[in-house]
Amino acid sequence: MSQNEKGLRGVVAVESGITSIDGERGILRYRGYNVADLVEHCTFEEVCHLLLHGELPDADQLASFEEGLRAARTIPTEVEAVVDDSARYARPMEAMRSMGSALSFSDPDKASNDPEANQRKAVRLISQLPIVMARYRRRYYGLEPEGPDPELDYAANFLWMLRGELPSEEDARVFDIVSILHADHEMNASTFAARVIAATCTDMHSAIVGAIAALKGPLHGGANEWVMATLKRIGSEDKVEAAVDEMLDQGKKIPGFGHAIYKVTDPRAIILKEIGRKVFDRVDSIEPNWFAMTERMERRVFERKGLVPNVDLYSASVLYYLGFPVDLLTALFAANRVAGWAAHVIEQHLDNRIIRPTINYTGPPARELPVSQERA
Ligand SMILES: CC(C)(COP(=O)(O)OP(=O)(O)OC[C@H]1O[C@@H](n2cnc3c(N)ncnc32)[C@H](O)[C@@H]1OP(=O)(O)O)[C@@H](O)C(=O)NCCC(=O)NCCS
Repeated sequence: MSQNEKGLRGVVAVESGITSIDGERGILRYRGYNVADLVEHCTFEEVCHLLLHGELPDADQLASFEEGLRAARTIPTEVEAVVDDSARYARPMEAMRSMGSALSFSDPDKASNDPEANQRKAVRLISQLPIVMARYRRRYYGLEPEGPDPELDYAANFLWMLRGELPSEEDARVFDIVSILHADHEMNASTFAARVIAATCTDMHSAIVGAIAALKGPLHGGANEWVMATLKRIGSEDKVEAAVDEMLDQGKKIPGFGHAIYKVTDPRAIILKEIGRKVFDRVDSIEPNWFAMTERMERRVFERKGLVPNVDLYSASVLYYLGFPVDLLTALFAANRVAGWAAHVIEQHLDNRIIRPTINYTGPPARELPVSQERA
């Protein structure tokens, strides 16, 4: 089996009209639109509409889609209980996994995989995951949860519920852009997991729970926490090069670098780097300067290994700057990515065939079962 076959590189698993990647040129498109243009001109809500319905909304469609999202900003009491318990015992991504499941308990559409039911569930999940995540975090710190504010859009409301103070317009927009960049990414591990699960004709929540579990891994969404933890461990700008050298000399991977598809810098990393530069220029009081450290890390890893950044390298310090603690970064990614996962589940259910690859068997050849005396 070749190295490519091992990770299913280049294998076409499904037909999909949602997201495409040009890995040679570093271009990411949602429904044909370059993500660089989407972050320039659209909100996360518009992008969710695009992913779920195939087109950007007109003014009326956007108003009604946003109203649906705001109306869905509520969680049932039995889910509140799961969240409050999780805050005592579970790490954030363990909690997210459980909460994704708990949100199905009394979902009115749980028994249906019809496109309309799936669209309603998608809207609920996009609105509810930020609520459960923010509630979990505030409970974890012994604080009262902040209820959603119907006046606020997705990004501002998410920051408000988590931090308990209204974000500045600039911070809310930064988070809006990060959310757009997190929203989907073609056939990555968690999306593949979601589609494999959905292809058994089970429900959307089950597929999302599997996707959350896959995202948790450090080689996938868990890399943003790993990046920030690495920066914190290094501690200061002047120690970056030595720390990178040490990790590479010990044969360790450096989080935030490398990608299975991109041969050039991940376009999301380019956008996030510019955002990082701007936000850290605005506030000179942050010590150490996580952005400057990240930039030095980028330079050193390139010099040593020729590796370029992926989405998680610069998203880590930007999210940390926004007030998300290190151990919450992957959960935050999950809350954004549910838009893409849901779009893929809807697409899978619309044209389904159970996904059932095969293996290259490497075990013992066919042999006779010893009779019981010979085994004694
Ligand atoms: C993303 C990732 C899983 C892609 O994996 P992949 O396509 O299987 O690539 P490989 O792991 O086979 O890497 C190919 C080579 O580059 C090296 N490499 C890849 N990413 C590296 C990294 N982040 N740090 C150091 N070396 C790395 C591998 O060690 C390997 O070297 P080798 O051929 O000498 O053994 C991998 O780059 C990685 O683990 N990155 C760090 C985690 C991360 O940031 N994940 C987020 C992805 S968006």
